[in-house]
Amino acid sequence: MKRLNLTVGRVMSVMLRALDQIDVRLVDHGHRVAYIVYKMMQASGTYSLREMQEIVIVSSLHDIGAYKTEEIDNMLRFESDDVFDHSIYGSLFFKYMSPLSKWSEVILYHHFNEIHYEKVNVERRIKDIAVMIHLADRMDILMQGRQSLREAEADLDHQKYRFGEKAISLFRQVNKEADIENSIKDGSYLGELKGMLKDADFEGDTMLDFIRMIAYSIDFRSETTVTHVVSTVSISLELGRFLGLQEEDLEKIELGAYLHDIGKIATPLGILEKPGSLTNEEMRTMREHIEITGDILKGRVQDEVYQIAYRHHEKLDGRGYPLKLTGDQLTLNDRIVAVSDMMSALAGKRSYKESFSKEVVIDILKRQMDSGKLDRRVIETAIANYDIIMECCRMNTLRITEIYHKIKSEFRSIRTGMMELV
Ligand SMILES: [Fe+2]
Ligand SMILES: [Fe+2]
Ligand SMILES: [Fe+2]
Repeated sequence: MKRLNLTVGRVMSVMLRALDQIDVRLVDHGHRVAYIVYKMMQASGTYSLREMQEIVIVSSLHDIGAYKTEEIDNMLRFESDDVFDHSIYGSLFFKYMSPLSKWSEVILYHHFNEIHYEKVNVERRIKDIAVMIHLADRMDILMQGRQSLREAEADLDHQKYRFGEKAISLFRQVNKEADIENSIKDGSYLGELKGMLKDADFEGDTMLDFIRMIAYSIDFRSETTVTHVVSTVSISLELGRFLGLQEEDLEKIELGAYLHDIGKIATPLGILEKPGSLTNEEMRTMREHIEITGDILKGRVQDEVYQIAYRHHEKLDGRGYPLKLTGDQLTLNDRIVAVSDMMSALAGKRSYKESFSKEVVIDILKRQMDSGKLDRRVIETAIANYDIIMECCRMNTLRITEIYHKIKSEFRSIRTGMMELV
């Protein structure tokens, strides 16, 4: 994926822009927390550059499990006990889906108070970082609530039971030495973070792994969409290969397909899971996911990748959305992902329907082709190789389904354990 310029900075900005969609109050929260944690790590002098880079990424994404708005209300209230669901989900996403799974417990404990640690067995390093994230998180929330960091700091004397003395004194040190508050207010902290991440040397497909993590975590919101993205990717790649595409196009298609529904992070669960057909109003809300996808990706990924994702609901006859483009404007790559998205939806189970049989899927695809909505060559290729494409898709989705069930069952057991502690 080197050719697609998937740098750490770009991938992070896609992920954070996506998280921003959950709630405007979280805008840039992840970055600010990461910055404060970075300053504290620097001051402590016991972290290698590599560790700091990894922990900055983890800190930026510490709320990745928080896609339920009710939970965000709880998170943003200063005193609240009910903040563990998103910590557990987030840590499980990290554990099973990210290249930084070794830090997953940092996310699990990021709302733990110092006194809770007496009852659990946590590695010292993990605890130190989790406490820093906790403290930075609270400081940022106070700062957004118009308190100055100095005022917030003064109150820390009464907060030893939450953050412990070590983290508090580190924070005091950096709040004095570095002008954290000004760097945050004038936005220069972002440049500093970017600079420290710039040369982060992650191997091979690490950046794609992060993209996968965010894509799957959005699919995992609803039982019926768990494997939608992975099957869309799988079908797109198989179709691309049968159509003789070059490696570079396959990479663009793969990334575009992973990101095509990223805007659904903002679609209410009630709509995603509605058992019947949607009202006009609900349909409008559902369709907004495409604009949000565009907004998240624009300027952050290569233009062609953005285009593939943004155009997956366009039709050749100009009756798609959002731009009502026509056939002469849609590239082969666009067309492949549009067909794959539909195949994935038809062959999969949805809240409003069972999965369709091969005959029904093919019948619907033929009608799309004959009415001039989707590409003839792509659909003919899909029909001619249907069994191979779908078998390949089944194999690729198996692993994701397994992870989904693991996360679900582990979530329950960790939650029960935590509730006994706090
Ligand atoms: Fe949190
Ligand atoms: Fe979509
Ligand atoms: Fe889709």
